[in-house]
Order: sequence, then C-alpha cells, then structure tokens
Amino acid sequence: MKKKLNVGLIGYGFMGRTHSNAYCKVNHFFDLDYEPVLKVICGLEEKDAKAFSEQWGYESYTTDWHKVIEDDNIDQVDICVPNNMHAEIAIAAAKAGKNIICEKPLALDGPQAKTMVDAVEKAGVPNFVSFNYRRVPAVTLAKMLIDEGRLGKIFHYRANFLQDWTISANVPQGGMATWRLDVKAAGSGVTGDLLAHCIDTAMWQNGQIGSVCAMTETFVKKRMHVETGKVEDVGIDDACTFLCRFDNGSLGNFESTRYARGHKALYTFEINGEKASIAWDLHDLHRLSYFDHADESIVRGWRSVHVTDGDMPYMDKWWVPGLQIGYEHTFVHQVADFLEGLAKGEPASPTFKEALATQYVCDAVLASAKDKEWKTVKKA
Ligand SMILES: NC(=O)c1ccc[n+]([C@@H]2O[C@H](COP(=O)([O-])OP(=O)(O)OC[C@H]3O[C@@H](n4cnc5c(N)ncnc54)[C@H](O)[C@@H]3O)[C@@H](O)[C@H]2O)c1
Repeated sequence: MKKKLNVGLIGYGFMGRTHSNAYCKVNHFFDLDYEPVLKVICGLEEKDAKAFSEQWGYESYTTDWHKVIEDDNIDQVDICVPNNMHAEIAIAAAKAGKNIICEKPLALDGPQAKTMVDAVEKAGVPNFVSFNYRRVPAVTLAKMLIDEGRLGKIFHYRANFLQDWTISANVPQGGMATWRLDVKAAGSGVTGDLLAHCIDTAMWQNGQIGSVCAMTETFVKKRMHVETGKVEDVGIDDACTFLCRFDNGSLGNFESTRYARGHKALYTFEINGEKASIAWDLHDLHRLSYFDHADESIVRGWRSVHVTDGDMPYMDKWWVPGLQIGYEHTFVHQVADFLEGLAKGEPASPTFKEALATQYVCDAVLASAKDKEWKTVKKA
C-alpha cells in the first residue's frame, strides 16, 4: 500500500497545470512509496478554480489560500503563484508543518528568500524549489559527465535564455496576464525569471558563483498598468548580460532578454573543459552535444547524443530507446525525486537553501548593473 499524500496546490495557471500533470502521472511511471492525492486547488477566480478542479480531478477548490494552509488534511502545499506571494504562503505553510514545493524564483530578493529558508529550517519541513530544467535527462546527463571528470578542469560556462514576447510597447504591465512586467509582483525581470534557471543549473553543474559584473537594460521604460489603468514607469530589467567567476576558477558568461526577435524560449548552455565540451539547447532538449578530445583525430568531432537509452537519466522510466520525452516530464521527474527523498528522509535538490544561493547571485547581478561595478556574491 502506498502512503497517500494530500496536495493543496495554489495557482491554476501555467505552472499549476505542469505540477498537476506531474502529480497525476508520477505513480504510473515511478515506483514510489508515496501517492499524491489532488485534494484542493486554489486560485483567484471561483469559476476558473472550479473548472480546473473538474478538469484535473481535484476533490475541491477554493479562492482563499489560507484555507489550504489551515486544512489539517493537507500534507503538502504546492506554490504556483506570482513571485510576490511565495514568501507569505511558504512561511505560513512551514508554520503549519506542511511539505512545500515552491515555484522559482524562490522570492522577490535574497533577504526575503532568507526568511523563507529560516521558516522551513525552524519548522523542519521538507522543502523544494521547482528549477525543473535540471531534470531534463540531457541536462542531468551533462551533470553526470562533469561529475565523472570527463571534462577535466572546466574553463568556461556560458548560458543564454532568449525570448521576444515583450518587444511591443503596447504590452501592459501588471494584472494576471502580465504580472512578470510589474516589478512589485515579479521582483525583477529576466534576471529572476529566466537567468535564475540558468544560474541554478550552472551552479549545480559547476559549483558556486563568487563574483559578477552585469549590465541590464529596460528598453520600454513606461507601460500601461493593468490594475491602475495608468501609464507607469517599468521597474523590471528587460535584458541582462553578466560575466562571472565561479569558485572553481572557471569563467561564466550569461545573457537573457525578452527582445531577441525570433526566439521564444531559447535556453542554451555550453561548457568547455580541458578534455571535453558539452552543449545543450532547450529547443532540441532530448539531445546533448558532446566533444571528446580523446577521440581518435580522424573521427573527432561534436557528437549529438540522443538521450533516450535506458541507462541515461530517468529514461528507463519511460518508453523504449529512441523514443524521446519532453518539457512536461521534467516536472514529473522533480515530483518523483521529491517523493523519493521523502521516503528516504533525504531532501531532494534544490532545497530552499540552495535556491537562496541562486537568489543571492540574482541580487548581486542587479546590484552590479545598478552600481556599474563587480560585486561579490553573498554565500547562502
Ligand atoms: N519552472 C518554470 O520553468 C516556470 C515557468 C513559468 C512560471 N514559473 C513560476 O511559477 C509561478 C507562477 O507562474 P505562472 O506562469 O504559472 O503564472 P500564471 O499567471 O499562469 O498563474 C498564476 C496563478 O496564481 C493565481 N493567483 C494569483 N494571485 C492569487 C491569490 N491571491 N490567491 C490565490 N491564487 C492566486 C492565479 O489565479 C493563477 O492561477 C511564478 O513564480 C513563476 O516564476 C516557473
């Protein structure tokens, strides 16, 4: 008999769907001690919350997140709401003794994220942050190859996350559809939204970032605010580029923008080591590019590894070699790892504390851009 784990999920938007899908699928593909039960979905609009509960099989719905926290039947709170609400909900959930899964970025900034780390550590509750790209099998394979020493000493880490959806000055800020453009709801622009993913993956693969030098730009400086109806200053960074030094001596180069016409979600990274290099591209997420200098020179070149074999990360849980999986599976993988961690009493990564380290890098990046100088990153 599996142990039932009653889930209360807050936010039925984009991430509410990916997390619900993961809870629905995880026990079909992974052999786990725990079985999530979709107990309650919470969101702003009653009509939409009800429709979501019916579509995804939640037993009930509410528009008041406090009710999810106060419900003694709920074991796990899953936070899929805009960034400015993460801290209040997570701290309340920790005090109520719930397991917590929280979407990224953990908080609006480092000091707020620290209060969340303190709350979960004081309460001793399992906690996890949804930096899902770590669990693309090809990205996990890259980490394995690095850990096996196949790259040798790492010299360079470069990553991009490029989009193009805010180029028009007519896109408003604030409200439910465009909260990402409102600094009060989002905390920052591309730095917290997109680069946080790149930073999390990079530090997981290549160790901590020690110092940064950044520039940011806000190309459209005023936008209509959905809530006030007035044209207001834009407080987010539309684009951010930063250089950094990792603690292991390697150099980093990161870029993100929502103004790269033609790119919708071009997340790429390339890592160059003494013995080998690795490259990955979200648009071709089931492939890992690998160059091994040890290959015989007459056949040496970049290989495109199709990450579908059963001995590759997570792939024994899915279909047969040659058949690839996609984006939504990363959320299934993270729930599976979280539940496995619960059963073993070993926290799945990244915890709130690890996400705090990413938040501190984001803070240092924004401070560096503002002050036009290198900044040392605070240690989590
Ligand atoms: N891991 C990833 O790749 C990834 C991708 C997208 C978003 N995110 C993160 O997920 C979070 C949510 O983003 P999204 O794209 O799903 O947003 P969304 O706008 O699609 O959904 C937000 C949800 O929050 C709910 N909500 C807002 N205020 C609320 C309140 N006071 N009480 C209850 N519910 C409330 C809304 O009803 C809506 O269902 C953000 O932190 C975002 O950064 C992560």
